[in-house]
This record gives sequence, C-alpha cells and structure tokens, in this order.
Amino acid sequence: MNRLFLLLLICLGSCSRKEVPGHGQHLLELIKEATEPNSNAGVTGEQFLDGVERVKAKGFPQMPEFFVASRTPKIERFPCGRCHDQPLSKLVQRSADEGKKAHWSLTLQHAPANTMACKTCHGEDKMDELVTLNGATVNMNHSYQVCGQCHSKQIKDWAGGAHGKRLGGWAPPRVVNNCAACHNPHRPAVESRLPARKENTTVDEVTR
Ligand code: HEC
Ligand code: HEC
Ligand code: HEC
Ligand code: HEC
Repeated sequence: MNRLFLLLLICLGSCSRKEVPGHGQHLLELIKEATEPNSNAGVTGEQFLDGVERVKAKGFPQMPEFFVASRTPKIERFPCGRCHDQPLSKLVQRSADEGKKAHWSLTLQHAPANTMACKTCHGEDKMDELVTLNGATVNMNHSYQVCGQCHSKQIKDWAGGAHGKRLGGWAPPRVVNNCAACHNPHRPAVESRLPARKENTTVDEVTR
C-alpha cells in the first residue's frame, strides 16, 4: 500500500513539472515556437513568377494569405472611364439616337436573361468597378468576388486550390489566376475541343 502511494507521488511530481529539464523554458512555449509559420526557411518562388502584378485575395479570413494575378493590365478596354465619363443611361440614350457606338460583338451567354444582364455585374456610373447583387463596388482585380456570389462551390474550391491554377511554383508566395483568366464572364462555358494531335496529321486522319 505504502509503495503504491510513493509511486503515485513520484508520478504526480513529474507530471506536473512545467519546465523542460535543463532548459528552463515552458513546454507550451517550445511547442508554439516549433509550430509558428516558418516562411519555408527563406525559400521563395518569386523568380518563377516573373514579376506578375497581383493583389492580396480578400474575404478568406480562415485561409493562409494568397494573391490573385491582376486582370486590369489584360483588359483591352480598361480604363473604361475613357468613354464612360457620364452615366450609362446618357451614353445608351445617345446610342439610341445616333446608333450603337461600342461593344458590338459583346453578347451574354451565361445565366438566363431573366437572371442576368450587364448591370448584374457592371455599375451605372463608375464603369471601372464591378458591382455585387447588392450594389457594392468590387475592383476589377477582385472579380472572383462577383463570380463567387452565385458559384459558391467553385470559389471555395478555388480558394483551397482545387479549381483554377497556381502560377510560378509551389514555394510561397501563392499566386493564383482569377476566374476571368480562364472563363470569359460573358460566355463562361469552356468549349470542347479536339485532343491535341501529332504534327502533320489532319483532322481527317484523326477521325478516320
Ligand atoms: C471606346 C469607348 C468605350 C470604352 C473604352 C468602354 N465603353 Fe462601354 N460603352 C461605350 C458606349 C458608347 C456605350 C453605349 C452603348 C453603345 O453605344 O454601345 C457603352 C455601353 C456599355 C455598357 C452597357 C451596354 C448596354 O447595352 O446597356 C456596359 C455594361 C459597358 N459599356 C461596359 C464597359 C466596361 C466594363 C468597360 C471597360 C472595361 C467599357 N465599357 C469601356 C463606350 C466604351
Ligand atoms: C457575370 C458578370 C458580368 C456580366 C453579366 C457582364 N459582364 Fe462585362 N465584364 C465582367 C468582368 C468580370 C469583366 C472583366 C473581365 C476580365 O477580367 O478580363 C468584364 C469586362 C467587360 C468589358 C471589357 C472587355 C475587354 O476585354 O476589354 C466590357 C466592354 C464589358 N464587360 C461589357 C459588358 C456588357 C455590355 C455586358 C452586358 C451585355 C456585360 N459586360 C455583362 C463581368 C460581367
Ligand atoms: C447572378 C449569378 C451569377 C453570377 C454573378 C455569375 N454566374 Fe456564372 N452562372 C450562373 C448561372 C445561373 C449559370 C448556369 C447557366 C446554365 O446552366 O444554363 C452559370 C454558369 C457558369 C459557368 C458554366 C457554363 C457552362 O455552361 O458550362 C461558368 C464557367 C460560370 N458561370 C462562370 C462564372 C464566372 C467566371 C463569373 C464571374 C465573372 C460568374 N460565372 C458569375 C450565375 C452566375
Ligand atoms: C485555370 C483556369 C480556371 C480558373 C482560374 C477557374 N476555372 Fe472554372 N473551370 C475551368 C475548367 C477547365 C472547367 C471545366 C470545364 C468542363 O469540364 O467543361 C471549369 C468549370 C467551371 C464551372 C462549371 C461547373 C464545374 O464546376 O465544372 C464553373 C461554374 C466555374 N468553373 C466557375 C469558376 C469560378 C467562379 C472561378 C473563380 C473563383 C473559376 N471557375 C476559376 C477552369 C478554370
């Protein structure tokens, strides 16, 4: 009985010891230090990113920081304000009087017309910015926020890295392509295409 009591005492003594022997450091502190983000010991994929313009992704507080390649350098008609220097209603009225002046080739093939029109994503006055369904403005470089309103599954997958494409390599910083880099917002379906074929073969030979 006495021996059992002694054993219990020894156990209690060693279990409740808070400091790591010989170090004088709290065990919890050591664990914290070991699990703090170590910026991959200084490894960076910056050299493979070729200086790509980017913005910090917004709206994913649970995710580690990541970046989205900027769209504005790629949008031919940006800045829109060059022509949209007055409210859209005036511009459209002028076109009704004098004939359509711009965006002839642009048609929507996305959601049904009773769900979506130009103004579902574009504002009236500040054309350089997009708008949410609630009328809040969204910078063109953060257009994923506009898409994510309806495509909530895809934007979750995208933020987690299961949909879309990461640029550069696997080392930080993580830079990904925006939705609009792959999907034309006005006709987003990915068109089917023939498999890549060997040089010098014709479609005929492939389908024969
Ligand atoms: C070269 C001049 C020009 C530029 C640049 C331009 N627009 Fe326009 N846009 C117009 C004109 C003019 C209209 C009025 C309708 C028309 O004549 O087609 C218009 C109309 C629109 C409309 C309304 C279409 C409709 O049928 O109701 C949208 C939306 C729009 N523009 C978006 C943009 C966005 C977004 C950009 C920038 C990325 C942009 N535009 C850049 C000239 C321009
Ligand atoms: C689902 C949202 C959405 C709808 C609906 C939409 N747009 Fe856009 N539009 C965008 C986004 C996002 C961009 C920027 C694309 C990019 O990053 O390349 C854009 C770009 C543009 C541009 C610039 C294109 C270029 O490459 O220069 C014009 C012009 C434009 N939109 C006009 C319109 C017009 C006119 C309509 C209605 C017929 C319309 N959009 C409907 C989301 C939308
Ligand atoms: C207001 C809601 C809404 C917004 C905003 C929106 N979409 Fe869509 N999108 C839809 C609906 C609805 C469909 C389904 C259309 C169908 O099946 O006929 C669709 C279809 C698609 C498809 C599949 C097309 C196909 O036929 O395979 C893609 C890709 C897509 N959207 C991308 C985008 C991108 C990129 C953006 C942002 C620029 C965006 N969507 C913004 C509602 C939206
Ligand atoms: C690297 C290119 C790329 C990026 C970036 C990208 N997608 Fe896609 N997306 C695709 C491809 C490829 C498909 C599959 C098309 C198919 O199977 O026909 C697809 C399919 C879709 C579809 C159709 C339904 C489905 O899941 O198959 C939707 C909706 C969609 N994407 C929305 C988005 C949205 C929203 C974003 C941004 C948050 C985004 N995509 C970013 C390439 C991309």
